[in-house]
Amino acid sequence: MKLIIDDADIEAIRRMAAYYPVDGVTTNPTILSRTGRKPYEVLKEIRDFLGDEQELHVQVTAADAEGMLKDADRIRKELGPQTFVKVPVTREGLKAIRLLSERGVSVTATCIYTRMQAFLAGKAGAVYAAPYVNRIDNLGGDGLQTVRDIHDIYRKNDIPCRVLAASFKNSNQIQELVKYGIGAVTAPPAVIEGLIGNALVDMAVADFARDFEKIAGSGITMAEA
Ligand code: G3P
Repeated sequence: MKLIIDDADIEAIRRMAAYYPVDGVTTNPTILSRTGRKPYEVLKEIRDFLGDEQELHVQVTAADAEGMLKDADRIRKELGPQTFVKVPVTREGLKAIRLLSERGVSVTATCIYTRMQAFLAGKAGAVYAAPYVNRIDNLGGDGLQTVRDIHDIYRKNDIPCRVLAASFKNSNQIQELVKYGIGAVTAPPAVIEGLIGNALVDMAVADFARDFEKIAGSGITMAEA
């Protein structure tokens, strides 16, 4: 399962990439707006940092299919043809997903709240489908079960689309999906850091260091003992 950073803050992305085995970055218009900067200026910095191998997902903002195609052309021209173009699964979006996929563009179908949006986006040729876990929960639905169902729908219908689950508020939501083996999750830095934050682990490591110093001396590690 791929682990992706859902953020456009280049410093946060650098920090996360230094410590965590991440596979790329997703953005959306709201995330970009939080930087307060010009969109392509920010996105080019992220692309330069990621290189060509790691995934970068960038969302179209036009409302109609024709405009989405133009947005996709600009996104790929500025950020490279390997860039995943995120398209919301509206009626116009579905049309754009099919046309872009036919042209060989890697599409991430996004803004998914229902299983049927995901099914149709997969059939239209999307590489990834992004259901919004926390937002589905907030509507009284079951975000995690929706993700599991979408994963199963693709497998049972031979649709080669992978789930890229999004909208997380806690690390347990991610843990549940790791257990299920979905394609990818994208989460904000704080949620990814929550995957490993544990005061008991910190205490155990401090105990080991203190005990070792009893035989090796204060501040001494295995390198100097
Ligand atoms: O990138 C889309 C998704 O992650 C939205 O998350 O936190 O705004 O529900 P959120």
